[in-house]
Amino acid sequence: MSSTLIVLNLKTYLEGTGEGAVKVAQACKEVADDSGIEIGVAPQFCDIYRVASQVDLPVYAQSLDPVGAGSFTGHAFVQSIKDAGAVGTLINHSECRLTLANIDASITTARNAALKTIVCTNNVATSAAAAALGPDYVAVEPPELIGSGIPVSKADPGVVTGSVDAVKRINPAVQVLCGAGISKGEDLAAALELGSVGVLLASGIVKAADPKAALEDLVSKV
Ligand code: G3P
Repeated sequence: MSSTLIVLNLKTYLEGTGEGAVKVAQACKEVADDSGIEIGVAPQFCDIYRVASQVDLPVYAQSLDPVGAGSFTGHAFVQSIKDAGAVGTLINHSECRLTLANIDASITTARNAALKTIVCTNNVATSAAAAALGPDYVAVEPPELIGSGIPVSKADPGVVTGSVDAVKRINPAVQVLCGAGISKGEDLAAALELGSVGVLLASGIVKAADPKAALEDLVSKV
């Protein structure tokens, strides 16, 4: 396995919901096995168990709530996420933003449960702030490029290199992913060139007519 990491966020796309999540995860697994590149998926909470129990690949929650066991209603409890089969979680996605205090508490909650943490950020300053909290990964994604089909690695390389530099300065143990508009092999290659260790992506694969072919293209230039 290379050290490159690809995480596919299934969001609430219909194509990545229920049995669709299993199908997309299966495609990820096949391409990961063929390419030697680690590919994880982040399905909706209700699909974590379905995916993790049917497909042997790393499954991430799309977020979690920093609540403990007990009198809490309507929350995503870390133990439930872990027992469902997740190995990690996204935190603070632009579509699910948290306060700084909640990001910190979510990282601590996940870490205490031995879940990997990917904190999403929207610019260099928030990447630096997130790095100070010590997650496993910071994933920088300019919100205006999310779902646009315009790859961050080409449209805004500075936010990637700036995040890589800032994170390295603040906490060298934290690795940087980038995302937004990534779908092609050249986008991933450019992201790696810029110093990130991989990508967090969604629509370009989940909504592709043939997700497996799209994934094969994604890894073709690494
Ligand atoms: O979490 C991944 C993300 O927000 C990027 O989405 O559709 O631009 O690949 P997309």
